[in-house]
Amino acid sequence: MGFHFSQALIRWSKHYGRQGLPWQGHQDPYAVWISEIMLQQTQVSTVMQRYPQFMRQFPTVKALASADLDAVMALWSGLGYYSRARNLHRCSQEIMAKYAGQFPRTAKELEQLPGIGRSTAGAIAAFAFEERAPILDANVKRVISRFFGVTGDQQSHETVQLLWEHATALLPKSKSQMPIYTQALMDFGATWCTPKAAKCQSQDQMCPMKSECKAHELGQVDLIPAKKKKKESPTFTTNIFLIRYQDEILLERRAPKAIWGGLYSLIETPWEPIEPKINRSKPSDVTSLLNQTVLSKLLSKSDLGSIASVEKGHVIEHVFSHRRLRMQPWIIHLKRKWSHLSATLDWICTRRLKEYGLPQPIRVFLESSSR
Ligand code: ADE
Repeated sequence: MGFHFSQALIRWSKHYGRQGLPWQGHQDPYAVWISEIMLQQTQVSTVMQRYPQFMRQFPTVKALASADLDAVMALWSGLGYYSRARNLHRCSQEIMAKYAGQFPRTAKELEQLPGIGRSTAGAIAAFAFEERAPILDANVKRVISRFFGVTGDQQSHETVQLLWEHATALLPKSKSQMPIYTQALMDFGATWCTPKAAKCQSQDQMCPMKSECKAHELGQVDLIPAKKKKKESPTFTTNIFLIRYQDEILLERRAPKAIWGGLYSLIETPWEPIEPKINRSKPSDVTSLLNQTVLSKLLSKSDLGSIASVEKGHVIEHVFSHRRLRMQPWIIHLKRKWSHLSATLDWICTRRLKEYGLPQPIRVFLESSSR
């Protein structure tokens, strides 16, 4: 065959690939792993800012494993998808316990670790150990679907299986090319073979794969991969309570499996599918709202009597990947501190908020309300 996908891609990357990123050119599996996890749902530009700080604070798998989960969560704050941070911590402990702190060297073994899926396992094995292991993230699925003209449902097991087979067949023969090839494939999917306005669709049609690409030949680049039908994301509402006593505020540690699991947040009523009623509550109704929170069984009459003032804040809208949340803040000042609450509740000095992992919209709200 005259055309070699991998060699054409590697040539392409020398001109157009991403160069000089802080995690490139390392073969330390720990550094590769952290960068790949951070890059999963987060833009390269954000990771460039946050990755060096993470590596300074936790330079080795041992340092991460012996850290407090709270410190890891605080450092992850604002990056979203917090299960990634919890899994990093758990995974580092598993590497210490099971592998004496040495990363396993094959994609197969890496994939068994918490938070490492097949594609990430492939990326780590390729970058750190030059294993001929394929990757198949969303960008790579698109590149391969177009190149081979795969039109099947991208969610189906059969299609995914077929794409893994194609991804494996395209790998360079030489192990030493695995790092550059893997990075090139990611970069090509992210910057050239894009969902809309792929480079081959523009006037100068600059694409090294064009002559061999099935989707290009069929004029179906914009149709492959087939678009998912978008579902409306459901909207939920909740009340959140900023409860203050002097310069302290009451925060609740969220359950590990919940959304924003393990982060500290404001006390809240259960999230409910949109119901306009909620916004009609008046400050005088606040005790009935508090009775729908973790505080319900903890507060006595005299605690409720110690409320000095209640103020209704502006509604905060937060959009997740699969739902929206509308939060109605209530700002409550106390004359006397509520104590003997429960293990998941803590009074925290507003000056120390930086040390806690908080959901981003809550952090923004707290910062704007403590000015
Ligand atoms: N996304 C996931 N891994 C990446 C990498 N190594 N470089 C750029 N984007 C990525």
